[in-house]
Amino acid sequence: MMMNTQNFRDEQEKMTILQETYHLENGVQIPKLGLGTWFIDDDKAAKAVRDAVKVGYHLIDTAQAYGNERGVGEGVRTCGLPREELFVTSKVAAEAKTYEEAARSIDETLTKMGLEYLDLMIIHSPQPWTEFRVENRYFAENKEVWRALEDAYAAGKLRAIGVSNFLQDDLENLLDDCRIKPMVNQILLHITNTDKALLDYCHAHGILVEAYSPIAHGEALKNPAITKMAKKYNVTPAQLCIRYVLQLGTVALPKTANPAHMQDNSAVDFQISTEDMRTLEAMEKIKSYGEFDMFPVFSGKPLS
Ligand SMILES: NC(=O)c1ccc[n+]([C@@H]2O[C@H](COP(=O)([O-])OP(=O)(O)OC[C@H]3O[C@@H](n4cnc5c(N)ncnc54)[C@H](OP(=O)(O)O)[C@@H]3O)[C@@H](O)[C@H]2O)c1
Repeated sequence: MMMNTQNFRDEQEKMTILQETYHLENGVQIPKLGLGTWFIDDDKAAKAVRDAVKVGYHLIDTAQAYGNERGVGEGVRTCGLPREELFVTSKVAAEAKTYEEAARSIDETLTKMGLEYLDLMIIHSPQPWTEFRVENRYFAENKEVWRALEDAYAAGKLRAIGVSNFLQDDLENLLDDCRIKPMVNQILLHITNTDKALLDYCHAHGILVEAYSPIAHGEALKNPAITKMAKKYNVTPAQLCIRYVLQLGTVALPKTANPAHMQDNSAVDFQISTEDMRTLEAMEKIKSYGEFDMFPVFSGKPLS
């Protein structure tokens, strides 16, 4: 059906965040909002993906380390949407630091998920978790792992490639002599924890930032200052958190297996004022993630 201008405008007005996308450097479109799946068990992951797709999600984020790639793959294959309408991300394990290990792991992911290609594969961490943010930066090793991603991209196994938890010097190390620039950097980013310098560096280099733990792994929901600001906008704290990272020009990846929360997290078509964005950015930092402080991504320390 031909669309006249009025119809086109109406369509745009109806567009929700679940239909909106960014363009990666290679032109591939990536949804602005996705479903995180860390801590969703393998036997529950397929249903979570199908529920999310019913709500309208297209982007699903998993990792070799989550132990649920099989279930996520099953969900992708059985959700009823054509494969090309979904955007599936996984991550090369932080411990795979040779070309061979990384290349093999990509093939294993594809087999485990029962998929012919992934939309995005990223290096989970610049260092193995037991050495996270230590002196040894694994620069040479990350170049090798990156080469494996570049080759898998060239072979059509991956539509886009990127990194996660990379600091500026980790990125510079790859940008120095890569064939393909990282298209994405997935980092910890939520209200009270915004590394503006890294965000600006990534965006200046055409690297899209994905915000992981946008709800601070649940801690933001207990924060009185965030709850108060959410009330002002008549939204839930989770919605405020998601809207905040979206307005920073990043992809939001909230995790939930609860369909009501999936719905809640996608109803974010409101605008936080510039002034309130500044207030949220400057709020006192959430310093503890409770029992999850043991994870290097939250403590910035190696896994002991
Ligand atoms: N690259 C990395 O190193 C890295 C590290 C961490 C995370 N990630 C990615 O980012 C995703 C999200 O991060 P995350 O899992 O740490 O935490 P998160 O999304 O910040 O928070 C998840 C918590 O918020 C709750 N929640 C979600 N929506 C809610 C709602 N509408 N109302 C109330 N509670 C809600 C969830 O509970 P329910 O489950 O009960 O809804 C869960 O307890 C991960 O799943 C993963 O895909 C990547």
